[in-house]
Amino acid sequence: MPTRPLGANGPLISQLALGTMTFGAETDEPEACAQLDLFVERGGTLIDTADVYAAGASEAIIGRWGRARGGMDDLVVATKARFGPPPGSRGASRRAIRRCLDASLNRLQVEAVDLYFIHGWDRHTEIEETLSTLGDLVAAGRIHNIAWSNLTGWQLQKIVSTARAGGYPVPVAVQLQYNLLERGAEIELLPCCLEAGIALTPWSPLGGGWLTGKYGADARPTGATRLGEDPDRGVEAYDRRNTERTHAIVDAVRTVAGRHGRPPAHVAIAWLLARPGVAAVLLGARTAEQLADNLDAVDLSLDPGDMETLTSVSAQGLPSYPYGFVQDWSGLDIWRRLGT
Ligand SMILES: NC(=O)c1ccc[n+]([C@@H]2O[C@H](COP(=O)([O-])OP(=O)(O)OC[C@H]3O[C@@H](n4cnc5c(N)ncnc54)[C@H](OP(=O)(O)O)[C@@H]3O)[C@@H](O)[C@H]2O)c1
Repeated sequence: MPTRPLGANGPLISQLALGTMTFGAETDEPEACAQLDLFVERGGTLIDTADVYAAGASEAIIGRWGRARGGMDDLVVATKARFGPPPGSRGASRRAIRRCLDASLNRLQVEAVDLYFIHGWDRHTEIEETLSTLGDLVAAGRIHNIAWSNLTGWQLQKIVSTARAGGYPVPVAVQLQYNLLERGAEIELLPCCLEAGIALTPWSPLGGGWLTGKYGADARPTGATRLGEDPDRGVEAYDRRNTERTHAIVDAVRTVAGRHGRPPAHVAIAWLLARPGVAAVLLGARTAEQLADNLDAVDLSLDPGDMETLTSVSAQGLPSYPYGFVQDWSGLDIWRRLGT
C-alpha cells in the first residue's frame, strides 16, 4: 500500500488507515483481530483508536492482538483523550491527559503512543496547559507525535500559534469528519491545515455507510447495519441525512463507480484521497469482508472529469460574507480551487 507523510513533521503512514470504533461494540474480538490481520497483510500501518471507543475495549483488543504478534513497532498506533476524563478533571487538562495516557498505554500494552490526539476542544482548559502537558510527554518519550480532532479553524490556528510561540510540539494531523456528504471543513479548517503543514485524516469516509448506497430514500433501515440498529445514531442519523442532496450525491457516486466497474465505496474513498491535504483516510468496518472490499479502493484513480462531477454535485457553497466578499482580493482562492 502506498505511504504518505503525515504532515510536515509526522511519520510515514499508509494512505488507508484502520479505524477501530466498531471494535468491542458491533465487532467482536475475533472479527476485530481478523480486520487487524488483514489490514497489516495488505500493507496498512496506521491504526486509529480512542480511549472512549467501547469504553476502552477497542484499545484493549488492539493491545492483546499486538502482544500476540510480538509487538507493534512496525505500525503507527494512534489513540485519543478528552471525552473520558477521570472524575474531577476537565477533558484536556494536565491531570486528565496524564491519567488517560497511562490508562491507554496500559490497555494498548505499549510504552509510547505514536500519535496522540486530543479528541476535541476543551473550553475550560487553557491551551497552554494542554500543550505544555503534551510537550512534557513527548520529551519523556511517552508520545511520539501530537494531533487534534474535531476543531474549528480558529481553534486550530490558536493551537498552532501558541505551540510555535511557546516551543511546544505542533500537531502533525487533524482528524475531522470529511466526506462527499460533509465538506464543511473545507471552509476554515482545511486552509489552516494547508498553511501550517498539518495533515488531514478524514473520519467517516463513507458518511457512516450512506456512500455505499445501502440506505434508500423511502424505507427506514432495519437489520444489522449502523442505522438499522439505531436510525438516530450520530452525524449519519437517517432523518438528518435522508435528503435530496444526499441521494443526488449517492447517485453521482454510483454513476462514476459504474464507469469504473467498482463499488460506490471505492469512489467515495478515492475522491477523498485525491483532495488537497489528505494524508490518510480512516476506514471503518463492521466485518473483515467490508474491510477487504474497502481496502481494494487503494488503486482506483479518478480522472479529472470524475473529480469534477463529484466535487460539483457535493458542493455546499460558501456563506456570501465574508467568503464571497474576500476571495477575489485576499489571495484566498483556495475555495475556488477546492470547488467548495
Ligand atoms: N475523531 C472522531 O471524532 C471520530 C468520529 C468517528 C469516527 N472516527 C474514526 O474514523 C473511523 C471511521 O469512521 P466511520 O466508521 O464512521 O466510517 P465510515 O466508513 O463512514 O462508516 C463505516 C461503516 O459503514 C459500513 N460499511 C463500511 N464498509 C462497508 C461496505 N463495504 N459495505 C457496506 N457497508 C459498509 C459499516 O457499518 P454497518 O455495516 O454497521 O452499516 C461501517 O461500520 C472510525 O473507526 C474511527 O477510527 C473518528
